[in-house]
Formats: sequence, C-alpha cells, structure tokens
Amino acid sequence: MRQAATTVELRREIATLPRPLVLVPTMGALHEGHLALVRRAREAAGPEGTVAVSIFVNPIQFDRPGDLAAYPQPLADDLAKCEAEGVDLVFTPAADGMYFPDRSITVTESLLSRHLCGATRPGHFDGVCTVVLKLFNLFQCDAAVFGEKDVQQLAILRRMARDLDVPVEIIGYPTVREPDGLAMSSRNVRLTPEHRADAPRIRRALEGALSLLQFGERAAAPFLAAARKHLEESLFLRIDYLELVDAETLQPVGHIKRPTVLATAVFYGEVRLIDHVTLLP
Ligand code: PAJ
Repeated sequence: MRQAATTVELRREIATLPRPLVLVPTMGALHEGHLALVRRAREAAGPEGTVAVSIFVNPIQFDRPGDLAAYPQPLADDLAKCEAEGVDLVFTPAADGMYFPDRSITVTESLLSRHLCGATRPGHFDGVCTVVLKLFNLFQCDAAVFGEKDVQQLAILRRMARDLDVPVEIIGYPTVREPDGLAMSSRNVRLTPEHRADAPRIRRALEGALSLLQFGERAAAPFLAAARKHLEESLFLRIDYLELVDAETLQPVGHIKRPTVLATAVFYGEVRLIDHVTLLP
C-alpha cells in the first residue's frame, strides 16, 4: 500500500498507478460502512485498477468547533484497515496541508442545501463541495464512492458533478448498519452507553412512519407526526430536524407523489447523528 501525506507526494504516486482510479473520500475513524465503500470501489476499479482512500478531517465543513476537536483520529488503525482491504493508495494530508491561509474560492450549492443538514449546519456543504472538488482534482479519479447514509451530501455532490462538468462518476452505496439497526458512524463511539442503547430508536422511528404508506396515507403531516412521537419518547435525544423532502430536489413536500425522503438529525448530548428512509409511493 502506498501512502502520501502531501499533495506533492500524492501527484507523484498518482502518475505511476494504473487506471481506472476509484477514490473513497473519508474523514477516517474507519468502520464497516467505510470499508464497504472500499469494496465497492474495488469492484468499480477491477483487480488491475487503483483503489484510493483519502483520510482528512476537513476543518472547513465543521460548523461546531467542539465537534471538530472531538472527532476521533485513530490513524494507525485506519491505515491497518486500508491495508487489510487491499487499498492501493492512502492520502493523509495534515490539517493545514490542504488549504492556503488566504484561500478565497469556495464551491457553493444553493438549492439542495436549503433544508435538512444544510439548514442547521450553515456552511457545511460549501466545505464538503470544496474539499471533494479539490480531492477530485488532486487524484484525477475516474470514479468516487459515497454512502447513501449522507443522502443530502450524495445528492449535492452529484449535482456538483453535473453542474460543473466534473468528469468523475459518482457511485452511491447503501447505508451499512449495526445489528440493532443504528447506522454506522464515526461519531457512534462518542455515545455514552445509555445513549448508545437508545439510539436504534432513530431507525425505528423512521421505519415505523414508513408503514403508514401501506395504509394508503400520502399526506406529509402524519408521517412527520408518527416519527416525531417515537423520537420524543426518548429521555435522551433532542431533535435537530425532522423533514420530509422530495428525493431529487430535497425540498419539503406536503404530499407524497414521487420518491420522498424522511430524514432526521438528532443530538445525544453533543453527538449529532443522522438517518433517513426513502418512501416510494
Ligand atoms: P465520512 O463521514 O468519514 O464518510 C465517508 C464516506 O463514508 C461518506 O461517503 C459517507 O456517506 C460514507 N459512510 C459513512 N457511514 C456510512 C454507513 N454507515 N454506511 C455507508 N456509508 C457510510 O462524509 C464524509 O466523511 C465527508 O463529508 C467527506 C465526503 C469525506 C468530505 O470531507
């Protein structure tokens, strides 16, 4: 496995590695969800192609300084996991290795980021789009794999590729879950045992609301009310948002006529977790 810690080293490595090159961008603290993306990348690259992983806790996408400071960074573990998965190249830039101190260009998305995480985390998706475009440019990758768990991030990155003619195929991959249904997340390790035990309710609340579809319900309000009730029965969590949005435009809907996403973000103390279900009428 090759490793590059600077953009100069990365460019040198890229020049020697076989194509196609498929990138899995991450912020590290790798879990089974990330590793599933790596396997998907290998499928796309083929046995002769290159699978690359970037590990970079991108400071400009954090809206809360405490969240950035507490973000787990077990680099040695992460490298061992990449090696075991047969990753060809890992890029591990330093915190200040990606941005000029006087950088003045940012990629801004202005429609799909209006709701959900975009509404409660100002600037977050500008930070994501900017770093992902930089990674695409640095790696000159043919394709990149992203998790559907971050449904808004995936939709926005597809839109960025479309609107800016970015020549990278964006591959989505389904959410990987713990046996009890909790979506895997690097932030799960920060949950207290009590909060961890309560957290599977997020998935259950969304799935429970989903069952209204079978009874012919199509109005948004009952779905939101059912999910909210289940979430609010928790003694521990605080709802950041709970929204029902069109799966393509990510704008709120009053009625379910097309594929729709019921999405939530909740706080357990300082730990923020997200999940969603897709409703197909
Ligand atoms: P990070 O949270 O580390 O996630 C890296 C990738 O793993 C993302 O595409 C995310 O959707 C995916 N992922 C995380 N948990 C998953 C799960 N349980 N199942 C499937 N996929 C999962 O998302 C980011 O980093 C950053 O915003 C990044 C894109 C790297 C830009 O900084």
